[in-house]
Amino acid sequence: MNLPIKILGTGHYVPNQVVTNHDLEKIVDTSDEWIVSRTGIKERRKVNHETTHEMAYLASKKALEEAKIDASDIDIIIVATITENQKTPAVANFVAGLLGIEHDVMSFDLNAACTGFVYALEVAASLIQHPKYRKALVIGAETLSNVLDYTDRNTCILFGDGAGAVVLEKGQEQQLGYFYNTSRPDMTNTLDVGKYIKMDGRKVFLFAVEVIEKSILKVLNDANLSLDDIDHIIPHQANERIILAVSKSMNVSMDKFVMNIASYGNTSAASIPLTLSEYKKKHSETKTLLFVGFGGGFTYGAAIVKV
Ligand code: UT7
Repeated sequence: MNLPIKILGTGHYVPNQVVTNHDLEKIVDTSDEWIVSRTGIKERRKVNHETTHEMAYLASKKALEEAKIDASDIDIIIVATITENQKTPAVANFVAGLLGIEHDVMSFDLNAACTGFVYALEVAASLIQHPKYRKALVIGAETLSNVLDYTDRNTCILFGDGAGAVVLEKGQEQQLGYFYNTSRPDMTNTLDVGKYIKMDGRKVFLFAVEVIEKSILKVLNDANLSLDDIDHIIPHQANERIILAVSKSMNVSMDKFVMNIASYGNTSAASIPLTLSEYKKKHSETKTLLFVGFGGGFTYGAAIVKV
C-alpha cells in the first residue's frame, strides 16, 4: 500500500570531535589498516558535551530551515534512538521543548536499533495520512560513545555519534511512500546494549547481507518498481564490506549505494538520515531513493521515497 509522503527538508548534526583510527590504536590493540580493510571506517565523531536530544534538536532545526517550515506547523515528532540520556522525558519531548513548541504535538521515541529511522518513517507516514496532522519531524540521533567499552576492540572501533532529521507532510497520490519493516526475534544476545554494546560481529554480518537483499527486493516488488527506477540506495552504514557483499550478490554497482561510513562509522539510527541529509546538500533535484536498514532485535526494513 502506498503511503505517499513529501519530504520537505533534511538536516544533520555531528559533534566536531574527530576520533581517527590512529587515535584508537593508542587505546586498544588494533590498527588503521585492520579497521579500514575490515570496515571501511577511517574516523568517527564523538560528543564533547552534547546530549542525544541536543543533537536531535540541532539536526531538526536545520531540516526545518531547509524546508522553510516553522516549528509551529509540526504535529508529530518521532526520535529513533537507542542512546537516550534518560528514560523519560523522551528525546522527542526535549526536541519539542527546545523548538519552543507550545501547541499539541505527539512526541515519542522509538527503539528499533539501527533500523529505527526506517521504522519511524513508516510510523510517521502512516499517521500523516490523517488530516488532523499537518507535518512530522522524524529524527535519528545517537550518542553511541556513551555505551562503548573502549577496552573491547570488537566494538569500540565501529561506532560514532551524530543525528539526522527530516520534515515531511502527506504527499499527493502519485508521490511515493512504500515501506517494509519487520523483525526476526533473536533471543541469544547476538547484539545487545546494556551498559555497553556487545556483539557477535560475524553473525550480524551474515544476517545483514541476507536481509538487505531481501528487504530491497520486497519493497521494490510492493512498489512495482525495479532497481533501474531507483536513483540511489542509502543503506545503514555498518560496514562497507556488508554493502560490497550485497552489491556483488545482487549484481548492482557500488555506485548505486551512497556511503559515508569512512567519516562517521556506524551511527545506528542516525546513519540513514545523516547520509540522506549530506546527499541532499549535493543533489538538490528530486531523486527516487531506497533506504535499507538492519540491526539489533533483529530488526530490518526498507523504504522507497522521493526526496
Ligand atoms: O549496525 C549493525 C550492527 N553491527 C554490524 O553490522 C557489524 C557486522 N559485523 C562486522 O562488521 C564485522 O563482523 C566486524 C567488523 C565486527 C568484524 O570483522 P570480521 O572480519 O568479521 O572479523 P572477526 O570478528 O571474524 O575477527 C577476525 C580477527 C579476530 O582475531 P583471531 O581470532 O582471528 O585471532 C579478532 O580478534 O580480527 C580480530 N579483531 C581485530 N583485530 C584488530 C577483531 N577486532 C579487531 C580490531 N583490530 N579492532
